[in-house]
Amino acid sequence: MMLSYLEAGNRTQPPLILIHAFPVHQSMWKHQLEGLKEHVWVIAPGTPGFGGSALLDGEARMENYVAEILHFMDELGVEQAAFAGCSMGGYILFELWRRASHRVRALIFCDTRAEADSPEARDNRFKVADQVRNEGTGSLADGMPAKLLGTTTQQQNPQLVEEIAAMIREADPEAVARGQTAMARRSESVSTLPAISAPVLVIVGEEDAITPPDAARTIVSGVPNARLEMIEKAGHLSPFEQPEAVNRFIVTFLAAVFE
Ligand code: MLT
Repeated sequence: MMLSYLEAGNRTQPPLILIHAFPVHQSMWKHQLEGLKEHVWVIAPGTPGFGGSALLDGEARMENYVAEILHFMDELGVEQAAFAGCSMGGYILFELWRRASHRVRALIFCDTRAEADSPEARDNRFKVADQVRNEGTGSLADGMPAKLLGTTTQQQNPQLVEEIAAMIREADPEAVARGQTAMARRSESVSTLPAISAPVLVIVGEEDAITPPDAARTIVSGVPNARLEMIEKAGHLSPFEQPEAVNRFIVTFLAAVFE
């Protein structure tokens, strides 16, 4: 299966693959596609079931999402890339590192965490999976934007809130259910951190309520070569909320990686 994707720049440039958060899709990276294309070949796939990509064939596990991304790289002829993952995208990148670190040139973790879920959080994901299968994504589209976006964005930029709500409303309920299930089943990644030998940039919105700055600090303190950048006036979707600041940090980081 070939994943659906957006791209900008071209293949003479070093590749940067962007893995989106849950339950939105690759359009959350629209400002990175535009803002980074002078520097890198920016490739933003929809994870299985999202943004026009087909649903996962196998079980809802991070390993299977990773297998699809590796297959996608093969289809594009990309042997190794830098990656950025936002939230669920970050969970996928930890698994990618464990399975295929030789395909990874550098990692950018945005608004994500290395810890696994608490038992309560896990139970809640299974409940949400059942709920969206039965009722669709309407209630998530109503409730989640307020959790995903920072208070500043919610107060100052209602259009962004609506864009996120629309992405969630359009999401395939089965993809959402499988995403929740795969996240619930994911391994902890704190013990993986010391083994991450690639350069790492960690970005977090100051107002991120889902994976707060402390979760970012845990990643930075565990990885041998990691740098932390805090984004003012952003919540859990910092690349979408404050793209100029995020892009500036990514450009500086990648310039050193690809120099
Ligand atoms: C995401 O933004 O990818 C999810 O909200 C992360 C999560 O549910 O843990």
